[in-house]
Amino acid sequence: MTTKIRKAVIPAAGLGTRVLPISKVMPKEMLPIVDKPAIQYIVEEAVRSGIEDILIITNRGKGIIEDHFDHAVELEHRLAATGKKEMLDQIRSLAHLANIYFVRQKETRGLGHAINCARSFVGGEPFAVLYGDDVILGDDPACGQLCRVYGEYGCGVVGIKEVTEEQVQRYSSLKVDLLRDNLYKVTDMVEKPSPDKILSLYSVLGRCVLPPDIFDILDRTPPGAGGEIQLTDAMCTLARRSGMTGVDFTGTRYDMGNKLGILQATCEVALRHPEVGDDFRAYLKELVKTL
Ligand code: UTP
Repeated sequence: MTTKIRKAVIPAAGLGTRVLPISKVMPKEMLPIVDKPAIQYIVEEAVRSGIEDILIITNRGKGIIEDHFDHAVELEHRLAATGKKEMLDQIRSLAHLANIYFVRQKETRGLGHAINCARSFVGGEPFAVLYGDDVILGDDPACGQLCRVYGEYGCGVVGIKEVTEEQVQRYSSLKVDLLRDNLYKVTDMVEKPSPDKILSLYSVLGRCVLPPDIFDILDRTPPGAGGEIQLTDAMCTLARRSGMTGVDFTGTRYDMGNKLGILQATCEVALRHPEVGDDFRAYLKELVKTL
């Protein structure tokens, strides 16, 4: 039996040190991919996955994320007065995508600590987590692929992908056994493993669906890699206790927390963009001749 997942949490309170200096004042979650900020793609993915309530975890200086999902009264009046109906509809719809709530993580103590700030929003239900700097694009929203599996095996779900040996040491490594098709049983995991601690080249990438028990586990999770409270360490307790299900999801993931990821997202989305796609393709073709 599957369980309907109604709530999602988007942690967006990190310092973004890998994309400085732009992230000094501009939250990396607000960096543009052509004409929308990264976090809008993530909210849209959650909505397409059937999520109704979204909590975005922010911190000092990230107020523009709240503004982006609010009405912009003066701008809307101007667009209405000048007959720009299509853009007006687009701008207005942003304030009605879902029920979006905000809470501040008052100290940057890691992703696990950020998720623990969602306890009272989540209450006693399972919930999805979409990392605020991981944009995943595809026809079937990645979050929805995980939500559909939650409940089937009676445990939490993580979105997984095989990565390179160099990447696995920067992300996490999972102990996996194939269940069927693209589903795996996950029985152990380690955050940022040294080469001798690598369990497999499967990493958790950007999405998970967790039972509410995760909060009690987070309360007891000490700081791990980098001195931060790691969500991976808490999920490791879950995986060892009752197993988790890994979904090797379909879709292309762009890491907006790293400079190359930002460029790849911009380039690939621009090529498919209805307004600028053709001109951008022609421009790129000319440019590559000079490389
Ligand atoms: P990252 O570890 O990729 O973000 O966390 P970071 O800490 O901003 O990265 P660097 O290493 O300094 O560049 C994944 C997600 O978790 C959020 C981040 O905003 C990102 O979306 N996060 C991380 C929090 O909300 N709070 C934290 O304390 C840490």
